[in-house]
Amino acid sequence: MPDFIPVHQTPAWQALQGLAQAGLPSLRELLSDPDRNASLHAQACGIRMDFSHQRVNAKVMQALQALATATHVDAQLKAMVQGECINTTEQRSVLHMALRGSHRPDPPWGAAISAQVATQLNKVCAFAQQMRSGACVGFSGQAITDVVNIGIGGSDLGPRMASMALQTPANTAVRVHFVSNVDAWSLQHTLQTLQPATTAFVVQSKTFTTQETMTIAASARRWLSDGGCSTPLMSRHLMAVTARPDLALAQGFDAAHIFELWDWVGGRYSIWSAIGLPVAIAVGDTAFRDLLQGAFDMDAHVQSSTPDSNLPLLMALLGIWNRNFLRAESLHIAPYASCLGLLVPYLQQMDMESNGKSTHIDGSAVQVGTSPLLWGGLGIDGQHAYFQMIHQGTHLVPTDFIGVTTEHSGLPLAAEHHRVVLLNMQAQAQALAMGRTVQETQTLLQDSGMSESEAAELAPHRSYAGNRPCTTLWLEAITPRSLGSLMAMYEHKVFYQAAIWGIHAYDQWGVELGKTLAKHMESRA
Ligand code: F6P
Repeated sequence: MPDFIPVHQTPAWQALQGLAQAGLPSLRELLSDPDRNASLHAQACGIRMDFSHQRVNAKVMQALQALATATHVDAQLKAMVQGECINTTEQRSVLHMALRGSHRPDPPWGAAISAQVATQLNKVCAFAQQMRSGACVGFSGQAITDVVNIGIGGSDLGPRMASMALQTPANTAVRVHFVSNVDAWSLQHTLQTLQPATTAFVVQSKTFTTQETMTIAASARRWLSDGGCSTPLMSRHLMAVTARPDLALAQGFDAAHIFELWDWVGGRYSIWSAIGLPVAIAVGDTAFRDLLQGAFDMDAHVQSSTPDSNLPLLMALLGIWNRNFLRAESLHIAPYASCLGLLVPYLQQMDMESNGKSTHIDGSAVQVGTSPLLWGGLGIDGQHAYFQMIHQGTHLVPTDFIGVTTEHSGLPLAAEHHRVVLLNMQAQAQALAMGRTVQETQTLLQDSGMSESEAAELAPHRSYAGNRPCTTLWLEAITPRSLGSLMAMYEHKVFYQAAIWGIHAYDQWGVELGKTLAKHMESRA
């Protein structure tokens, strides 16, 4: 790898600063160019990306690509795929791509890793099948009907999000529930409709030491024993997913119910490992394998596409333009599909726990903004809550809209629902970009019958500056495969941004101090 140069010292960065200082025409003007649309689209793995509403032109895009070249993103990607120890603060490789590529002939991370991955994947799939068939029974001999996932952060957000996104009314062989919060309300609320005889718990923790998870797991065991489960039969109700199988064994988990991951899988990148077990139980092993395939498709795309058609790289570069050169501190993500209702919390951890850093890989201090504040939620709901601030507030808030072109619900009026959803998404994108001037607003008000003075008084309040950038991502449908591609697209975006900013994306030392202090306080209490 070439010597590290802080990104702000590269000529490419300085060129971008120059372009930003010179300024660009407004989105209104940019969008009046009929040729613009075609050049600011890209497509891969069933995702169509429309970035015509970003505040960029050909010159900016070229300069951004030059920045990617100057920061050697290709070499950095290669180092990751080949299993080099790129997470140097934890002395680990970063191989979540191996989790979805174990079928790849001649894998760059080595055949031994692929073999380990395949063994665990097969174990997860076989167990999920067994559970869904009713063959897993509890202490009374009745089939398990409900599985409660106990885990937090990466051991919760990804599986919870994907289970919700992919579960269909017809696909409820076993109901899956999620408890992440250690406050008692959370577990109690979940358990109040469940029966100990027919409930199993998946204790998900890479480290198997997370205080919150272990506290909830202990409470779950107590609920089982209070519900009539004897200690020898307890293991029927308990599964563990962890990189520390020794700790799970020591706690009495049955070896057949322990599923492994490895230290080279980051928690927030772990849904592709056995941490995906609840997804496989919720939607079936075939769907789970399809989810992995979708991510694999995106991995293949980033490794084979040209830079100007590489979706995650484009997303990363546009994010850097907005964050560092247009000085937008946040990124708003608005899915227009209710099944993606948990996408934003999942992406928050992925992005902010990865790139919320202020130290370069060489230990020097970062001089530029890194991870944006990532926030949002379902667009339709957001429109009636916080979109006001995005349209008229004082922050510049770029948005990723996520739309689905087809509708598969069985409701008789589903097509009408879908029409309203998409109409709104497109209207928002247009309103943000184009705005409405004071003069236009005043004319409109007068045309509607208002007096000139009244219209003049109201117009400043009812006008929109516009020039708010957005990208629209179109998926044909939310399927396991398309969801896998979407998730991996954001993962690779985060990788590219870290590679450009020159920071470590795969450690999370920022969360440690609070944990240490909590332990310290506990020991003194
Ligand atoms: O505290 C943060 C964190 O370490 C995340 O990175 C991780 O996803 C989460 O806690 C849960 O960790 P574990 O799976 O080890 O319980």
